[in-house]
Amino acid sequence: MGNLALASKAPLRFHSAAGQQRRAGVQVVSDDAAPMISLSGVCKWYGTFQALRDIDLEVATGERVVVCGPSGSGKSTMIRCVNRLERHERGRIVVDGIELSDDARALRDIRAEVGMVFQGFNLFPHMSVLQNLTLGPMRVRGLARAEAESLAMHYLERVRIPEQAGKRPAQLSGGQQQRVAIARSLCMKPRIMLFDEPTSALDPEMIAEVLEVMVELAEEGMTMVCVTHEMGFARTVADRMVFMDAGEIVEVAPPSEFFREPREERTRLFLAQILRH
Ligand SMILES: Nc1ncnc2c1ncn2[C@@H]1O[C@H](COP(=O)(O)OP(=O)(O)OP(=O)(O)O)[C@@H](O)[C@H]1O
Ligand SMILES: [Mg+2]
Repeated sequence: MGNLALASKAPLRFHSAAGQQRRAGVQVVSDDAAPMISLSGVCKWYGTFQALRDIDLEVATGERVVVCGPSGSGKSTMIRCVNRLERHERGRIVVDGIELSDDARALRDIRAEVGMVFQGFNLFPHMSVLQNLTLGPMRVRGLARAEAESLAMHYLERVRIPEQAGKRPAQLSGGQQQRVAIARSLCMKPRIMLFDEPTSALDPEMIAEVLEVMVELAEEGMTMVCVTHEMGFARTVADRMVFMDAGEIVEVAPPSEFFREPREERTRLFLAQILRH
C-alpha cells in the first residue's frame, strides 16, 4: 500500500466539544457508551421497489466498517440514509445520539458531524481549491476567512497537495480532486466519515494515493463507513466487513473471518467473483 507516513504528524482532534454544544436543544437519545451510528429495522422503498430490507447495523466510535456487495444491493442507499440524503420509511437511525427525523435542527446537527465523500468529487468547478475548502467553514461554522484559510491549508497539507490551493478542480488529476474532496470534508471537523466508492472513478495509478489518505484517517481513529471493493484496503483497515445483497445485510464479520471463511453462500459467490479480478 506504499508509504503510509504522514506528511504532518500533528495529532488531529476530530472529537470536538463543539459537537456537544451544537446539539444543545436537540433531544439526545443516547449516552457515551452508545454506538456512533445505529440503524435498526431500517426499510426504504423507491416507489414500490424496496431498496433496504430491515437493516440492523451498529457502528462504534472509532470503528471502521467496510460495506461491499453487488451493484444495486443498496450500499449507497444505506449510507446515504445515514446523513439523510435519502429518507428511510421504516425503522430508526440514530447518529451520535441524534435520531434522524424531519426535524430540521437535528438534521443540521447530524450533517455537521458526518462528512461524506462520493465517487464523483462534487467540487464547485468555478471556485479554486481553497475556496471550495473554506466555503463550508465560513458559511456553516461562521469562521473568519483567515481562520478558514489556515484550516484549509492544514488539511491540504494532510492530503499532500497544498501547492494546488489556487487551482480550479478541472486543473487537477482525479486523485488530486478526490483528495481535495476529502480535505473539504475534514475542514468541517466531522466525527464520522462516509465514503461511497471514492476510488472507483479513478485511474489505477491514482487509487493508491486516495487510499493512503483514507488509511491515515482510519489510523487516527476516525469513525468510518466505506463502501468499496478495494479489498486490500478493507483487509488493512476494516474492523468489520458488511456484505449486502438485494437490500439486505447478509453477513457481518471481521475481515479475517470474512475473507477466509464466509458463512453465507451469497458472500462466498460474491467474493469468488471479485477476488478473481
Ligand atoms: N433514486 C432512485 N430511484 C429509484 N430507484 C433507485 C434510486 N436509487 C437507487 N435505486 C435502486 O435501489 C437499488 C439500490 O441502489 P443503490 O444505489 O443503493 O445500490 P448500490 O449497492 O450502491 O449499487 P452500485 O454498486 O451500483 O453503486 C437499485 O436497484 C437501484 O436501481
Ligand atoms: Mg452505489
